[in-house]
Amino acid sequence: SKPKAWVSRPFFPDIVDRLREHFDVVQEPEERSFTPDELAARLKDADAAIVGLVDRIDAGVLAHAPGLRFVANLGVGYNNLDLDALTAAGVGASNTPDVLNETVADYAWALMLAAARRVGEAERWLRAGQWQGSRFEGWLGADVHGKTIGILGMGRIGQAIARRAAGFRAPVLYHNRSRLDAAIERECGARYVDKATLLAQADHLILVLPFTPANRHTIGAGELKAMKPTATLTNIARGGIVDDEALARALAAGEIAAAALDVFEGEPQVHPALLEQGNVVLSPHIASASRDTRRDMASLAVDNVLAAFGHGPCAGRPPTILNPGVLADAS
Ligand code: GLV
Ligand code: GLV
Repeated sequence: SKPKAWVSRPFFPDIVDRLREHFDVVQEPEERSFTPDELAARLKDADAAIVGLVDRIDAGVLAHAPGLRFVANLGVGYNNLDLDALTAAGVGASNTPDVLNETVADYAWALMLAAARRVGEAERWLRAGQWQGSRFEGWLGADVHGKTIGILGMGRIGQAIARRAAGFRAPVLYHNRSRLDAAIERECGARYVDKATLLAQADHLILVLPFTPANRHTIGAGELKAMKPTATLTNIARGGIVDDEALARALAAGEIAAAALDVFEGEPQVHPALLEQGNVVLSPHIASASRDTRRDMASLAVDNVLAAFGHGPCAGRPPTILNPGVLADAS
């Protein structure tokens, strides 16, 4: 009989069909999050799983999934996976890097532009029927062209964001754990600076860091005070990198001009103090949600599972496996 695959949410039936050729697939009919007990029950007989960013796979869940050999994550960030626990249990894991870089970079600019030019606030005001006439000095926002773009976290998404700055004739500063090669810096038009310089000089700061315990509250009260009062802050990375409560306070106090957030600590909950603040654009974790890219992400997740079980063009070599040693040990 075929191995069993559990798919934690509905998506593109034609892509799931590729999995059905080789697996008995159980696919959840609706989008929801699962408790650890529910995950354990669903993975009890599974050989493979495709999970979303709200599905937390850790040692406790794995203890109930003795047959599990591979978990494909529908996202590039994988802080929902305990990779050490997966590796220790001999379970391979993959994410969806690269296919979403350009789409996420587009969205980072969309949010940053919306915050700088007050698009969300102005639209809410118009929809509320308040547009009775225009004030020449109404709705003044910050320019983006020619201003200094700051990028904290300079992986492939950060680089895609940086490349877009050329059309805005906007200089780019970045900070990262490790400095990029000079050739890549040149190609992205980005200059490396320390974190303090980045905070002090960026007119529009964009966060693109992976979430790790060490990155928690990388931007807190002190960092926000170090920014320009005219600056904007955009987070398209992960909730928890910004101290949301400190951000709401900084926005209320005018320590920075505006913010744009696609991710939140404890999402889908949003800190109530942020909801009260007009000068912040809020979106429900959709930076990679273009029609093409969500299909590419789903397809890549399926490719990884198929390859882990010896099928398809990458048989035996899941293209974006995070812990390749697991498969080497198994063979
Ligand atoms: C989205 O947040 C992702 O990690 O792909
Ligand atoms: C603005 O709409 C202008 O015409 O200057």
